Amino acid sequence: MYDRLILNATLVNEGQVQQADVAIQGERIAKIGADLSALAAKEVSDAQGLHLLPGMIDDQVHFREPGLTHKGDIATESAAAVAGGITTYMEMPNVDPLTINAQALEDKYTRATGRSRANFAFYLGASNDNLEEIKNLDPQAACGIKVFMGASTGNMLVDRPEILEGIFAHAPILVVTHCEDTPMIHANEEAARARFGEDVPFTEHPSIRSAEACYKSSSYAVALAQKHGTQLHVLHITSAQELALFQPGPMQGKQITAEACVHHLWFSEEDYPRLGAQIKCNPAVKRLADRDAILAAVNEGRIDVIATDHAPHTWEEKQGTYFKAPAGLPLVQHALPSLLDHYHAGRFSLETIVQKVCHNPAERYQVKDRGYLREGYFADLVLVDLNATSEVTPESLLYKCGWSPFTGHTFQSRIEATFVNGQPAYQQGQVAEAVYGQRLTFNR
Ligand code: DOR
Repeated sequence: MYDRLILNATLVNEGQVQQADVAIQGERIAKIGADLSALAAKEVSDAQGLHLLPGMIDDQVHFREPGLTHKGDIATESAAAVAGGITTYMEMPNVDPLTINAQALEDKYTRATGRSRANFAFYLGASNDNLEEIKNLDPQAACGIKVFMGASTGNMLVDRPEILEGIFAHAPILVVTHCEDTPMIHANEEAARARFGEDVPFTEHPSIRSAEACYKSSSYAVALAQKHGTQLHVLHITSAQELALFQPGPMQGKQITAEACVHHLWFSEEDYPRLGAQIKCNPAVKRLADRDAILAAVNEGRIDVIATDHAPHTWEEKQGTYFKAPAGLPLVQHALPSLLDHYHAGRFSLETIVQKVCHNPAERYQVKDRGYLREGYFADLVLVDLNATSEVTPESLLYKCGWSPFTGHTFQSRIEATFVNGQPAYQQGQVAEAVYGQRLTFNR
């Protein structure tokens, strides 16, 4: 007797799209086959007309716990994540206190256990003085080491060259970087202040947090990784210029990989007059040509992973003038629907989306038994209806901050259900009361 049978779904997995049935036993996928309808199961659902994907693995989120929980917390933001088809997330260290030692990491795992709707792992943050913590890190204790090579929310800039050399030379696991050259940005900010005063128009953001500042820092990170043989993953690429730093083609065997985020694939400078602070983020949403180059780079393979950089701030905080409004926007509930809109527009295939949000993040971070529809793997699944629409209304938002830059948009798909470790974490528009998320383990 199986726990659950999903019949007649169209599976998107490992470069193929084909109809099949899936049997779930406990937390795992027990069988995938052409006709499993004769099997006995406690729950049977007919998924005719729906697509079944591995759940999205989001390698970059800010869930604000501990210390910043007025913006979001693990319970609220993970509920929004499962409603958006995300079954696993990796969370950033710029909280309060900063996640810069083993004890702070374990505190976060304790907080997430029993409260996180999706599976979870946390980054160890680098600072100018925690190189020994990094060297001694237990490879199961963090998904990666986050290095802010440009300053952003949380004041975690690592800018001493000898420290960066040490991190790149000795990191025991994947290094991930935020790349923006802070001195260049400060100079741009001063120039904007001289021209506009404090009320700089948000349209200036891509000129202040410029493509040149991104390129200078990304190329430095790539050079350091080449020098030391570091496994490097450069986060949120935003400019056409930077794409030349990365190799096209499949991810397998690459030492240096790149990530793009859903908002940089969606918005451009044309959206600042309408959305202003709502799309102010670091690195900045840039020109139309940059967005189109990043979209093309996903298909070329220069971008290996797509994530969100979900970074909620309250509506009140976002009402400040340019220098006061914090950078970042909530995204986890709408990331997969936004990518499926790209599918509907003919920009990405379904196979490419699954490669970039499921298989590649699982491989890059050596996540154990997730990221694929495979017998024996955890049943982290999302059922989507590509023929039903979903409108983003204020009432539909699950983010603690209560706003979204997508409000008013109608996506051309709908998330029908999300299963986390074999259990329905989201279905019929409702997040389950019960909590199914687990701590990730890694093949390392
Ligand atoms: O826009 C951003 N917001 N970029 C970051 O690097 C940090 C994030 C946040 O934590 O708010």
